[in-house]
Parts: sequence; structure tokens; C-alpha cells
Amino acid sequence: MIKNDLLIKAAKMQKTERTPIWIMRQAGRYLPEYRKIREKADFLTMIKTPELATEVTIQPVDIIGVDAAIIFSDILVIPEAMGFEYSMQEKVGPKFKTPIVSANQIRKIEIPDVREKLNYVFEAVKMTKSQLNGKVPLIGFSGSPWTLLTYLIEGGSSKNFGKTKKFILNERKAAHQLLEKISLTIIEYLSIKIESGIDIYQIFDSWGGVLSKSHYLEFSLKYIDLIISELKKRYNIPSIIFSKGVFNSLEEMSETQANVISLDWTIPIDFAKKVTNNKKSLQGNLDPTILYANETEIAKEAEKVLAEFGNGNGHIFNLGHGILPDIEPSKLKFLVDYVKSESRKYHE
Ligand code: CP3
Repeated sequence: MIKNDLLIKAAKMQKTERTPIWIMRQAGRYLPEYRKIREKADFLTMIKTPELATEVTIQPVDIIGVDAAIIFSDILVIPEAMGFEYSMQEKVGPKFKTPIVSANQIRKIEIPDVREKLNYVFEAVKMTKSQLNGKVPLIGFSGSPWTLLTYLIEGGSSKNFGKTKKFILNERKAAHQLLEKISLTIIEYLSIKIESGIDIYQIFDSWGGVLSKSHYLEFSLKYIDLIISELKKRYNIPSIIFSKGVFNSLEEMSETQANVISLDWTIPIDFAKKVTNNKKSLQGNLDPTILYANETEIAKEAEKVLAEFGNGNGHIFNLGHGILPDIEPSKLKFLVDYVKSESRKYHE
């Protein structure tokens, strides 16, 4: 039993007394309590040590008062389980030891035994679930197959995704084979995460927005829908899709099996509501940089998001992307308190 189940209800478009709020990257460097643990352990050690992952997962619930916890991990655990080692370099980000350059490498990839390879994630989920003791729901997540493919081909983060685009244009069949293998791995991964205790999951498609519409549908959304449809057959928990920068395909997203569409800050939420025909719950979408402003400005912008969604259920408040590492925690706390009290009038 979850005491505060506002997030789950909102995801299913059920009636709630106010709008729930959680924040992408809510466990992270903007919190001094996180930095204190991070001083002693590097990022990969933190995600691979269930006690540490549990501790930082719960920090924002206790310190900020968000309506959900999101398990502390990374989307890159999937490529690692598939045999691609990476390191997390300070100020640079992830770096893969052997990026994918040929179709031959893809042919050789075997679907990994995730239960064994990613046992540390499942242990962290179980430990967190037990320590949360039903206070708020626990969100699990995965990267989208497309976003993970870009890391495997670029070997890390990228500005223009030149290598990835060259690959999908010249090795289309192999690219699809890779997306399929990643999807199958994710289905098993999220299945075990669900069995370990997560209450809802989000698919982060951080780089869907670098594709043209037809390529987005072919290389990204198709595989996200494949994962969600398969999980829907097996389990009864809601799902969220976040494709950053994919304004143009909201209608197609609303035709998938997902319960919630998470919006980045460039899309007015009333517009998204119209385009998706009120079929899905919507999550978002305050510009993360608004948290640099003073409290009066934060309140004004938060109210704008609430008002744009308007009266009724099916809204989950969030930022349009992850919180930035140099935001003051008191600003986030102000936003969370504001949404908790001021969203009530939209639910009467
Ligand atoms: O939201 C949460 O609080 C849960 C934790 C979480 C992290 N990464 C922790 C993290 C989640 C959901 C992610 C997802 C993730 N990881 C995404 C998709 C979301 C998005 O932001 O678009 C992506 C693209 C990654 C890959 C990744 N991980 C990069 C590119 C980097 C380096 C950039 C950076 O912010 O330093 C990471 C590292 C990372 N993942 C950190 C955290 C807290 C910073 C690690 C540190 O403490 O130095």
C-alpha cells in the first residue's frame, strides 16, 4: 500500500486533490547531502552499491518533499550489461571503451542475462522500496533504445550525432537489429525491476529530438511502443514516455500504449493537451532554468504551467528536463511547496 499515491492516480487520469510533483534528476549534485556521499564514492560505485543508491534515492523525498522517488541509477547500465564498458569522466560525461563502428559488432551481441548482470539495480530497488515503507511511489526507468544506440555509436555524448546518423543511413538493417536487441534487453530489465517493486516507469528518450519526424517514428517511437506494449501484457503498472524535443510527433505518441507523455519546456501544455486529444496524462514542463529566478518569478511561471493544463486530472508537475547541478535546493523546495498548495484549486 502506498500512502501518497497521487502520482499513480494522476498517471491513470484518476481524480486527485492536487497535482503531484517530482523532478527529473532530483537525486543529484544540486543537493549538498548528495555531494557529501559523492565525495567518498564515484558515480559508478554509487549506483552499484545498493545502500548508497538507496540513500540518495530517498534524499529528495525527505529533503524536498517530492511526491515520488526515482531509483538512483543510469540509463547506461543497459549497454554495459550488453558488453560495452564505460567510464564516467568528470566534466565530460560517459565514455565507452569500444564504441560500435560496424554491423559485424552488432551481429555478435547476445541478449545478456540481466538478472545476473544488473542484480545491483534490483537489490537497490528492493532496499529502497523497503525503506520508503509506502511513503511515496518508486519510479523505475530505462533509456529508450534509440538514445542508448546513440551512446553506443558516438561512444559518449555528442553535439551533432554525425556518427550515429551516418550509421543508420548506411547500415539501416544493422541499426534496426541493434535497436531490437536493446529493446529485448530493456523488456527483461524493466520486467525484473517491476517484480522487484517499482510502481511506475519512465522511458528517457533524451535524443529522440535530433531525428526528423519519419526517422523518429522509425528508429525511436516504434521501439518505445514495442517495450511498453510487451510490458502491458505482463504487468499492470503505468508508464511515462519522455522524448525531448519531439514536438512534431505528439499525436503519434498519444497513439502508443503509454499512460503519460512527459513534455519538455518548449511545448505549451494546453497545446499538447489539444494535440493528444486528452487521451494521455501529461507530465511537465517548467523550464529548468526558471529555478535561477527569484521566488516571485518561480511562482508566476509555475502558475502558468498549472493554468495552461487547467482544471481536471491527469497532470504530473515536473521540469521540462533534469534539474541543473547549480540550482539552490531552497528554490526547488519553494516550487514543490507552491505546486502542492496552489494546484488544489484546479482539482475542485
Ligand atoms: O532522476 C534521477 O534523480 C535518477 C537518476 C538518473 C541519473 N541519470 C543519475 C545521474 C537518471 C534518471 C539518469 C538518466 C540519464 N543518464 C539520462 C536520461 C535523462 C536525461 O538527462 O536526458 C542520460 C542521457 C544519462 C547519461 C548520463 N549520465 C550522462 C550524459 C551523464 C553525465 C552528465 C552529467 O550530468 O554529469 C550522467 C551522469 C549522471 N547520471 C549523474 C547523475 C546524478 C551525475 C553524476 C555525478 O554525480 O557526477
